[in-house]
Amino acid sequence: MSRIVTVANLKGGIGKTTTVINIGAGLALRGVKVLLVDTDPQGNLSTSLGVTAKHTLYELMIEAMEPARVIVPARHNLDLVVADTTLLMAQTTMSRGNDWGNTLGKALAQVEDYYDLILIDSSGSLTPMNANALVASHDIIAPTTVEPFSVRGLELLHQQVKNMKDSTDSIRLIVPTMYDPRSRQALDLLEKLQHTYGNKITQPIRVNVKLSESPMHGKSIFEYDDESRGAEDYRVLVDRIIDTLNIVATGDARPNIQQRLKPASVAEAGVSISAGAAASRQQPVYELQVCPRCGRDVRYASAAGYRIMICNSCGYTKQMLTRNR
Ligand SMILES: Nc1ncnc2c1ncn2[C@@H]1O[C@H](COP(=O)(O)OP(=O)(O)O)[C@@H](O)[C@H]1O
Ligand SMILES: [Mg+2]
Repeated sequence: MSRIVTVANLKGGIGKTTTVINIGAGLALRGVKVLLVDTDPQGNLSTSLGVTAKHTLYELMIEAMEPARVIVPARHNLDLVVADTTLLMAQTTMSRGNDWGNTLGKALAQVEDYYDLILIDSSGSLTPMNANALVASHDIIAPTTVEPFSVRGLELLHQQVKNMKDSTDSIRLIVPTMYDPRSRQALDLLEKLQHTYGNKITQPIRVNVKLSESPMHGKSIFEYDDESRGAEDYRVLVDRIIDTLNIVATGDARPNIQQRLKPASVAEAGVSISAGAAASRQQPVYELQVCPRCGRDVRYASAAGYRIMICNSCGYTKQMLTRNR
């Protein structure tokens, strides 16, 4: 079983996607096996991590596609289900069926054994998709800018969660984002938030230009500028999440989702079988055809008992010993 966590606030532009990317990447760096799921039709998660995918959440939820064909590797310990505008159709199709509120939860139940944490990015509106994300989650992390409108979005989120789950206990952490300690209004509102929500309020994420630049480079803050204030603040938040949600890192012990694929369908998901190994009597070897760092095509070379993965786009290389296998 993995923990399912949604990052939500019923307002856009307040740092939800930035928080999902950077806590996802930060947890993965600590050995937590993480699946990020984008439920926002704007599809910002994939571009922010520089990953492209053939299949999307629509196919997983509505067409019941094999999850391993939809999930793409983004980084070590970090996989991704991407979204695009097809999700807008999913909302209509979904809400026609019985038990529509559990569509996402049922789809994710298939992959729970592969991840310590499934982290859902949501859009800032009251949609059937968002309702599905909240129903599926054990816990909710709510970012909020320290501004009146965003705080209102937080109140609406509390109301919606109360209506759906009879209690707001699942809102475990509230993360002040884009915090500017020089602003009097921000200081006052942060105090108010602490008064209303107590120790659910985490240490704020300060406003930091590196955080707004990193998605344009397809990188997490830890890859883009590990020394920045943004990296520092998200590291503190990652620690707080591990403590509060009791997350255990078992990344290396978890099976890889790609192992679910039969050889015939592996190539379609962006992974192919080494021809040499398939031709021999050995077990087929699955080789990634997309770069785990940037998501673009990779090529392979063999030399001195090593198989070397090379990405021409971002320069990523990985050597794998092939001798004595
Ligand atoms: N702490 C921060 N400092 C500076 N810019 C930020 C910070 N957090 C987010 N941003 C920027 O603010 C914009 C909105 O953030 P985003 O995470 O996309 O919000 P949401 O997902 O809630 O719509 C993006 O351009 C993002 O890069
Ligand atoms: Mg977003």
